[in-house]
Amino acid sequence: MSQAKISDAAKARVAEEIKFDILAGVPELEGDNELKRSQIARTFISDTITVPTKEMYSYALLASLGDDVYHEPSTAQHAEQAYSALEAHIANITGKEAGLFMPSGTMSNQIGLRTHLMQPPYTILCDNRAHIYKYEVGGAGFHSGAALTPVAPSNGHHLTLKDVEANIVYGPDVHFAPTEVIALENTLNGTIFPQDDIIAISQFAHSKGIKMHLDGARIWHVAAETGMSLKELLEPFDTASLCFSKGLGAPIGSCLVGSKEYITRARRIRKLFGGGMRQTGFLAGAAAYALTYNFPLLPRVHTLASKLQKSLEDVGVTILSPAETCMVFFDASSIGSNYDEIAERGAALPEPLFLGGSRVVLHIQTSEAAVDDFINLLATIAEEKRKAGFVKPETQANGHPDVYVRRAH
Ligand SMILES: Cc1ncc(COP(=O)(O)O)c(C=O)c1O
Repeated sequence: MSQAKISDAAKARVAEEIKFDILAGVPELEGDNELKRSQIARTFISDTITVPTKEMYSYALLASLGDDVYHEPSTAQHAEQAYSALEAHIANITGKEAGLFMPSGTMSNQIGLRTHLMQPPYTILCDNRAHIYKYEVGGAGFHSGAALTPVAPSNGHHLTLKDVEANIVYGPDVHFAPTEVIALENTLNGTIFPQDDIIAISQFAHSKGIKMHLDGARIWHVAAETGMSLKELLEPFDTASLCFSKGLGAPIGSCLVGSKEYITRARRIRKLFGGGMRQTGFLAGAAAYALTYNFPLLPRVHTLASKLQKSLEDVGVTILSPAETCMVFFDASSIGSNYDEIAERGAALPEPLFLGGSRVVLHIQTSEAAVDDFINLLATIAEEKRKAGFVKPETQANGHPDVYVRRAH
C-alpha cells in the first residue's frame, strides 16, 4: 500500500470519527422547537430565555462575515467606514464616545470594572441586591482585587445620596480601602432608579474623583417606560453595560460604553479575558434586529406585568416589589403557600407553567393566556388554603429589601 493511500485512509477514518449531525435522531427538531417556543411563552423564570425568531435570524445572516478581532465591520467601526456599526450606534444613542461588544452582561460588567480599577486596595460601592455583588461569582474580587461595599437602600427601593455618603470610603485613614467606583443598577429587580437620585449620587461621586458605572442590563425598560433617552439616562455615568440578550430577546451579547480611551483599554482586557470573538456579524445583526423590532414591544410587557400585579393583589397575594417594568415579586406565604408548591402545581397544569421563586418575569414572548393561568393558579391555591383554615396575617414581616427568593432549577 502506498504512503499516499495509507494517509488517505487515515484521514478518512479521522474525518469519520469527528463528523457529527446534530439533527440525527431528532427527526422532529422543528416540532421540538415549536414546543420550546410554547414553553417559553409560559416561562416566568427569566427574560434571558427569550429565543431568536426566524425573522431575527434571517436579518442577522445578512451581516458581515468578518473577524471581529480584526475589526469586523458590522460590529466594530472602521475609520473609513461610512455606515454605522453596532458598537458605534450604541455609543451614539448612549451619548458616549465608544462601545465594545461583549459575549455576556457579566463579562461586560467585570471588564467594565477591571478597566476602571488600576491598583488595589480599593472598593466598589453598590446596592446589596446588585448583580455584580450577588450573581457574578465574586468576580470583582477575583478579576480586579476589589472589595465590595454592599449597601442596603434605607428606603427599601433604591440607593440615595444619604446611603452613599454613609458608606463611601475616602480620606487619609489608612485602615480603609477607598471607594473608586460606585456601580448602580437600573432597572434593579425590575424597579426604576429615580434619575434625580442618580444625578445626586453622581455629582457627589465625581466631586470625590470616584467613577460611576451602570449595570444597565435592562436600561431599555427604563427608556421604554419613562420616555427618557438613553443619553439622558446614562449622562451621570462614566461607563455602562447594556444587554441585548434579556428583555430585548437577542440570543447573545452586551455592550460596554465609555470614553474612547477607556474602551481602547477595555478592548485589550476583553482579549485578555478570552472575549475576543471572531465572526460576530450575525450576533451584531441579531442585536440590531432586537433594537429595531423588539424594543417597541416592551410597553406591552410592562402593561401585562401591571395587570398581573393588580390581579394578584385582588386575590390576596402580597406584592413584595412592584411591577414598575417587567417583574413582579410576590410572597407565597401571604396565601399560606410556598414557592415549591406553587411551582409544582404550575408544572402539573395541562399546559404547564414554568415558575421560579418570588420573582415573576414577563418578556416579549410571554403569552397573555399564561399570565391568566398563573393568576388563576394563585387564586385557586389561595381559595383552597382559606377553606383549609389559613388566615392571612394582618401585617407581613418583611423588613428586608431583598425580595428575591430563588428556587433551584
Ligand atoms: C442586572 C443584570 N446584570 C448583569 C447580568 C449578567 O448578564 P449575563 O447573564 O449575560 O452574564 C444579569 C443577568 O441576568 C442581570 O440581570
